[in-house]
Amino acid sequence: MPEQTQPTNRPDRNLAMELVRVTEAAAISAARYMGTGNKDAGDQAAVDAMRSFLRTVDMNGTVVIGEGEKDNAPMLYNGELVGTGEGVEVDVAVDPVEGTTLLAEGRPNAIAVIAVAERGSMWNPGNSFYINKIVVGQEARQAIDITKSPSTNLVNIADALGRNVEDLTVFVLDKPRHASLIEEVRQTGARIMLHSDGDVMGALMAAIPGTGIDVLMGVGGTPEAVIAAAAVKALGGGMQAVRAPQRVEEKRQLRKDKVKINEVLHLDDLIQSDNTFFAATGITESTFLEGVHFDRRGGVTTESIVIRSLTGSIRYIKGIHQLNRKNLVGGNVGTTPAHVAMDIILPD
Ligand code: FBP
Repeated sequence: MPEQTQPTNRPDRNLAMELVRVTEAAAISAARYMGTGNKDAGDQAAVDAMRSFLRTVDMNGTVVIGEGEKDNAPMLYNGELVGTGEGVEVDVAVDPVEGTTLLAEGRPNAIAVIAVAERGSMWNPGNSFYINKIVVGQEARQAIDITKSPSTNLVNIADALGRNVEDLTVFVLDKPRHASLIEEVRQTGARIMLHSDGDVMGALMAAIPGTGIDVLMGVGGTPEAVIAAAAVKALGGGMQAVRAPQRVEEKRQLRKDKVKINEVLHLDDLIQSDNTFFAATGITESTFLEGVHFDRRGGVTTESIVIRSLTGSIRYIKGIHQLNRKNLVGGNVGTTPAHVAMDIILPD
């Protein structure tokens, strides 16, 4: 008699592959708006597609990082229940378009992204909107300390990697608030890659060896920090963060909420669970993931990454979709995905 499988209340490995269908759908829908200058329309298209495809995923999900509270965001709002309701209870963090301006302006690095972890395990940013982050890959994870200066961190990271500081490349968002950070990094001799938006992509690249980015530094959004943390944790990388309120109102509210603004948040604070899933699909081109390509005769290709923490598996998935075929799931996109796993590093 074959051994009976015990029922489990942990998210199942198949979830990873289901999630990539969700980000593919969002990316394909959003990609039509590339370069239109219309941030909201691209975002809305991605939200609609993501929501529609989420209905088919076997999970009992609650959106904890979404498009905002219900009144401001009609879909994928914080607290919205997603999935078929049949599977395990999970927290869901979504960013249907991470880099809405990048998409609207046709710049690189816009992605559709989703992260899932066991229920109650994702950090709730509350009224915190901005946070200082440092992200590195596995080899340097013990070397980071966000309470120390950027230059000290870079020296320690270089040491851990057995490289010279001059050989490190640091991803920094190109924002006025980073003027002194950029200056300090330049003083160390490390190379900088400035991007106007998209620090989830920066975190991913910093956590995955061989992407050309060794470190992400600087202040970005708190929702993006939680989403990035799900990926970094799954990848075994290192990440620390400290709230960095940028607006007077944000500071005032945090004081009122009696939040410890200087508290260092480690990976285990941002994502408590060791069972996380992360999927992202390129919308516009990047050096890391190809963007959505509309091919001849209704064909569309996508490139995605799916990461599962329990096994550490990373999959790069090339999706070849036929938009002129019948829509299988009642979504807005009408994809019939024919997936080709391009590079399976660790099968689970
Ligand atoms: P959106 O997709 O919501 O526009 O976010 C893009 C982004 O660049 C994030 O990657 C980053 O964390 C955040 O905005 C930084 O916020 P701001 O542009 O206000 O500095």
